[in-house]
Amino acid sequence: MSSLHTVATAMPLASLSLRSPLVAASGTVGSVVDFASVGSLDAYGAATAKSVSRDPWPGRPAPRIAPVGTGMLNGIGIQNPGIAAWSQTYGPRLGDTGVPIWGSAVGGDPAEFAEVAAGLESAGVQAVEVNLSCPNLEGGGMFALDPSASAAVVAAVRQAVSVPVSAKLSPNSEDIVAVAAAVAEAGADWVVLTNTVWGVGFDLETRKPLITGGIGGYSGAPLKPIALRCVWSVHQALPELPIVGCGGVRTGRDVIEYLLAGASAVALGSIHFAEPRAGRRILREAVRLARRHEARSLAEFVGEASSW
Ligand SMILES: Cc1cc2nc3c(=O)[nH]c(=O)nc-3n(C[C@H](O)[C@H](O)[C@H](O)COP(=O)(O)O)c2cc1C
Repeated sequence: MSSLHTVATAMPLASLSLRSPLVAASGTVGSVVDFASVGSLDAYGAATAKSVSRDPWPGRPAPRIAPVGTGMLNGIGIQNPGIAAWSQTYGPRLGDTGVPIWGSAVGGDPAEFAEVAAGLESAGVQAVEVNLSCPNLEGGGMFALDPSASAAVVAAVRQAVSVPVSAKLSPNSEDIVAVAAAVAEAGADWVVLTNTVWGVGFDLETRKPLITGGIGGYSGAPLKPIALRCVWSVHQALPELPIVGCGGVRTGRDVIEYLLAGASAVALGSIHFAEPRAGRRILREAVRLARRHEARSLAEFVGEASSW
C-alpha cells in the first residue's frame, strides 16, 4: 500500500472502510483487471467493473462514442460477455488488481438482475452495484425512472447476495429523491448518483446522429452540476443514506464539492479516457486542498455544505 492512503483519505461507506473516497466508475475502466496496467488503481477505494448481464450482449455498432462540447456522448449498449464468461475470465484475476472490485449488474427484469448479482458475488466482488439507469437499452426503458420498478430490482438482488448492494440512479428521473427512498427501503446500502444524462448530437455532413443509437448518455464536465444537485437533494431528504457521487469529476476541488453536498465517496468516469492515471493526481489535489482548508481528513467534509 502506498503513502497515498493515510488517515486523511480513509472513508467509511455503509459497512465498508474505504482507503480512499475515490471510486472508478463502471464502464470507464473495463473489467478493471486490464485497466490495472494503465491506470493508478492504488488511488481508489474501489473500482467498479463494466455492467454485466445474464446473456452476452453484443453492444451497438460503431460509432458509439463521440466528443460533444466539453463532454462525451456514448451509446455502447452495455457490450459484455454475459455473467458466466465474465466470471470465468475475470473472477480468478480480481485479487491481482490490488483494489476492491465492485461488480455492476444489468438486466431486463428483477430475476435477471438477481442471477447476475449472485454470479458477481461468487466471482469475488466486494459489492454489487445495480445499474438501474443505463440510457442505452433497446426500447429506451429505464428502471430508474420508476420508484417501484427500481425497488423491485433492488429487493430481488438484496435477497440473492450477502455483499453490500448499491443502486445507480439517473439524473433523468423526475423525482430522484423518491427513487432513492424506494431503493433504500428495498435494501440498498447506498446509492450512486448519477449515471449519464440523455443527450444527442448530429453530424452536418451525414445529417445523422453522431452515434448509431441516436440518443445516448452524456457525461463529463457538463454533468457535474446536474449530478451534484442530485446528491445534495437526496442527502437533504435522506441524510442517513450513504451516497457515491458521480459526474464530471476532474479535480480535487470537484471531489470536495461532492463530499460537501453529502457524498461519502466520489466516482471518476470519463476522465479516464483522457487521463488514465487521473486518480492519483485528483486524490493528491483533494488532500492538499483539505489541508489548506484546515481539515485533517476528507471525511470531515461529508455533508458539511450549508444553505444561505
Ligand atoms: C463509455 C462509457 C461507458 C459506460 N458504461 C457504463 C456501464 O456499463 N454501467 C454503468 O453503470 N455506467 C456506465 N457509464 C456511466 C459512468 O459510470 C458514469 O456514471 C458517467 O460517465 C458519469 O460520470 P463522468 O461524468 O465522470 O463520466 C459509462 C460511461 C461511459 C462514458
